[in-house]
Amino acid sequence: MTPPAKRTAERLTVAVTGPTGDIGKAFVGALERSRSVGKVLGMARRPFDPAAHGWRKTEYRQGDVLDRAAVEDLVRGADVVVHLAFVIFGGQRETREVNLKGSRNVFEAAAAARKVKRLVYASSVAAYGFHADGRPERFTEDVPPRGTDGFYYSAQKAELEGLLDDVLASAGGRTEAYVFRPCIVAGPDALILIESLPYVSLSEKLPGAVRRLLDVMPILRPVLPDPGMPFQLVHADDVATALRAAVLGRGKPGVYNLAADGVLTVSDLAAALGWYSIPVPELAVDATAKLAARLPFLPPEADWIQAARVPTLMDASKARRELGWRPKHDAHETLHETVRAAREEGLLD
Ligand SMILES: NC(=O)c1ccc[n+]([C@@H]2O[C@H](COP(=O)([O-])OP(=O)(O)OC[C@H]3O[C@@H](n4cnc5c(N)ncnc54)[C@H](OP(=O)(O)O)[C@@H]3O)[C@@H](O)[C@H]2O)c1
Repeated sequence: MTPPAKRTAERLTVAVTGPTGDIGKAFVGALERSRSVGKVLGMARRPFDPAAHGWRKTEYRQGDVLDRAAVEDLVRGADVVVHLAFVIFGGQRETREVNLKGSRNVFEAAAAARKVKRLVYASSVAAYGFHADGRPERFTEDVPPRGTDGFYYSAQKAELEGLLDDVLASAGGRTEAYVFRPCIVAGPDALILIESLPYVSLSEKLPGAVRRLLDVMPILRPVLPDPGMPFQLVHADDVATALRAAVLGRGKPGVYNLAADGVLTVSDLAAALGWYSIPVPELAVDATAKLAARLPFLPPEADWIQAARVPTLMDASKARRELGWRPKHDAHETLHETVRAAREEGLLD
């Protein structure tokens, strides 16, 4: 039998950028529960106390992925590097700096660090792009990520997957890469879906009297336009177990789609919120998206309309097959848990 001291020495040290985000918190929680992980080194810009989350293996430091020396220091001594630091909402110019330059720093530093054997990166369904032509009914991982030029997030995610391949190949191909393409991530600690609804961000600014009026007169409740486009969700805890499987070297390195069972429409979302939905013709969404792509003065968030242009559904069976991924939550449960948590947090009435 292996003596306990030796077993501890063999446990993995995992360096994580962006451990304080929606996915990061669930993921580090999953690493904390794994006996194969000895230490987690996390880095993001804002102050954060791992002990306040009950994390015992995790050391946190403040640092920016734009600071190459800080990134090199983080990954030195790690067995596996996980890159989650990203700016999701913003404009083309400000997101490009962190997302492209910061990710390049992480990819190059991980490839150069002698001890790092694996790199795990969270890409996105958006890497496929939102194109009306040449689109399969369900995207499988062998479909090349084309990105959508007029949508900064999608274009950057596609570009970064190419950059990752190039960086690892030019460093000699010694580092294994696992790339995940999750759909929208939700759950009680991942409220981006709710927070990004225009009414929710607006309602924080509404006077209390108006909010009370909305409460007593349900007819005034918000109405969501439903283009009828199906979308997928995945629970942050399930994303966490998929990423953890990659950290542990399960299955083969490569690209993995992540989506829970089941699909939703905006009408399902409206029903869960207790709101109304009205059908809007596909044509109207398409025309608005094309316009938004051309008007530079619109806020960057307007770019996200591109995502509602065409259904972009993924087949996530490869992760189940190769990584043994068993998501515990389907799309409907994930939606209801998310809405319940948003109510408890006071984001919704
Ligand atoms: N959430 C989703 O629905 C979803 C879906 C598909 C793919 N993804 C991808 O999954 C990854 C993680 O997403 P998430 O939802 O966890 O994002 P998130 O909640 O916005 O968290 C982003 C994390 O990155 C850190 N960060 C941002 N800029 C940084 C910088 N310059 N240097 C160091 N750390 C920085 C943030 O902390 P500080 O701000 O304190 O630095 C935070 O820890 C991203 O690549 C995202 O595109 C997310």
